[in-house]
Amino acid sequence: MTDTLSATGGETAGVPEFPMPRVARCPFDPPPALRSLQEEGPLARVRLWDGSTPWVVTRYAEQRALMADPRVSADITRPGYPAPAPMPKGTFASFILMDDPEHHRLRRMVQAPFTVKRVEEMRPAVQRIVDDLIDGMLAGPRPVDLVEAFALPVPSLVICELLGVPYDDHDFFQDNSKTVIRRDAAPEDRAAAGARLNAYLDDLVGRKLAEPADDLLSRLTERVEAGELSRAEAVQMGVLLLIAGHETTANMIALGTLALLRHPDQLALLRESDDPKLVAGAVEELLRYLNITHSGRRRVALEDIEIAGQVIRAGEGMIMANDVANRDPAVFPGPDELDLRRDARRHVAFGFGVHQCLGQPLARMELQVVYSTLYRRIPTLSLATELDRVPFKHDGQVYGVYELPVTW
Ligand code: HEM
Repeated sequence: MTDTLSATGGETAGVPEFPMPRVARCPFDPPPALRSLQEEGPLARVRLWDGSTPWVVTRYAEQRALMADPRVSADITRPGYPAPAPMPKGTFASFILMDDPEHHRLRRMVQAPFTVKRVEEMRPAVQRIVDDLIDGMLAGPRPVDLVEAFALPVPSLVICELLGVPYDDHDFFQDNSKTVIRRDAAPEDRAAAGARLNAYLDDLVGRKLAEPADDLLSRLTERVEAGELSRAEAVQMGVLLLIAGHETTANMIALGTLALLRHPDQLALLRESDDPKLVAGAVEELLRYLNITHSGRRRVALEDIEIAGQVIRAGEGMIMANDVANRDPAVFPGPDELDLRRDARRHVAFGFGVHQCLGQPLARMELQVVYSTLYRRIPTLSLATELDRVPFKHDGQVYGVYELPVTW
């Protein structure tokens, strides 16, 4: 660090720790201390687990400007990168943690199935998956854990089909993914879980090389054979897509359902309307309001960058706190209200710039199918426990609930 507020300097005494506790009046709100920082200004210093003091960027305009700035790097191997937790040794990063041109080279190899057109072709199949799972819930005992019975299986079944991963292995990959993104897991446990996922995908890539099928992993193995991609890169992309493909959307389904159950007037709008525009808008608003990727987008400056009257020095870390940016009153009036009729499309829940979520058309479509089906088919759906007994994922890089007991 080149700034006077160095990691070891005594001047860091008053710098708040990050992440900040979510002790808000409402479990869907970002940490109040982060909101206070946002009120004070767009940038502030925070202290991480390793004593380093990167910038936290709290306001929407500055965040979008920085995420689109080529002087800002997502490369986790650069000194100054503000890692959310100790990095296990020998971690092989996927393209989400790389810069162009490497990032672009790898991303374009997997983008074809995630275009809006290709995703729309999958809508009827996703509708069938959702209907079958609801049939299963209705035929089974009550109460039931919505996470296990519905929220996890929907995106897991979809990403397995798309990638060519056998769904029968879901206990294995769901358990290991959970550990990989657990902020408070011991580094060696995260490393071991990552290694198990890598070995699993490596074996699968080997099988696709011998016997290709009509799926994304087989398309990647063709590139390995053509010499355009190393086997390790193909494996790493498989791991990234498998984790990103189910963890995020599952949390949006369960946490979104809880948020709607706590806002019955908003839930009634969804249950009583069959207008696809209202449903699409509801998905955007829930993405904005819940912003499940609550650890912030992590970056490091490649050069000195002047912004909002401050200079971010080359080599200094930045955390784009997209949860508070999505509650920035300058962009979203009355930001703490869940209002499904609001135009929330400008939210940064999928990030911004070159790393903006590759899977967003898929996530949107899955959530549209879920939110337009679940509450209409089970109109009396309700929480089967007290709110304060719901286990929230405070320790995860992705926010959500571990369990959601529901009945009807
Ligand atoms: C509601 C669900 C989802 C949310 C909230 C979400 C959020 C995000 C965010 C915030 C980023 C940006 C990371 C950064 O800038 O550092 C991202 C990137 C990414 N997401 Fe998602 N995501 C979701 C679903 C999915 C799905 C279903 C997939 C696909 C299988 C996916 C695949 C990816 C990939 C591959 C990247 C890296 C893109 C890149 O670096 O170029 N995501 N996601």
